Amino acid sequence: IIKWMEQLNLTFAMLKPDAVEKMGQILKLIIENGFKVTKLKMVQMTKEHALEFYAEHKGKPFLPFLVEYMTSGPVIAMELLAENGVAKWRELLGPTDSEQARKDAPGSIRARFGKDKSLNAAHGSDSCISAERELNIFFPMSRIAQYESPRSTATF
Ligand code: PPS
Repeated sequence: IIKWMEQLNLTFAMLKPDAVEKMGQILKLIIENGFKVTKLKMVQMTKEHALEFYAEHKGKPFLPFLVEYMTSGPVIAMELLAENGVAKWRELLGPTDSEQARKDAPGSIRARFGKDKSLNAAHGSDSCISAERELNIFFPMSRIAQYESPRSTATF
């Protein structure tokens, strides 16, 4: 039992703006693959949030595009729990480049729902240390909600 408990871990998962409209299918896959969705929210990131989140990529040529993309619409942030959750989620995601994923891991989320290496549907923490940092950014203890749904034009 202790061994099993040790392997149970949390990870941070995020559906990127292009995948939000496919959230039903993706959530179904997540649950069918044995993850427990322990936290979930839709948020609109600001440029500052995206730069904080992707701090390790500071200076990389793709960062400006990545920030623009990640702030182009709401994302779905999740805390997932599973045995070996960090590695298991990365496996279900597939390779970073969706075109590559369609060759190497055709059943993966990036293969099925992403377009290429820029628009790749979803994110996953690459280690337990990253998962803790990323979960703290999106699910800090003191904040409850950050996304305001657009107001409907309909009247009551
Ligand atoms: S690196 O340099 O190896 O650490 O980069 P990599 O792990 O491949 O990717 C890190 C995140 O950057 C995104 N990425 C890109 N976005 C837009 N355009 C291009 N060309 C590009 N290349 C990499 C990639 O999707 C990763 O995002 P996350 O959210 O971490 O999955």
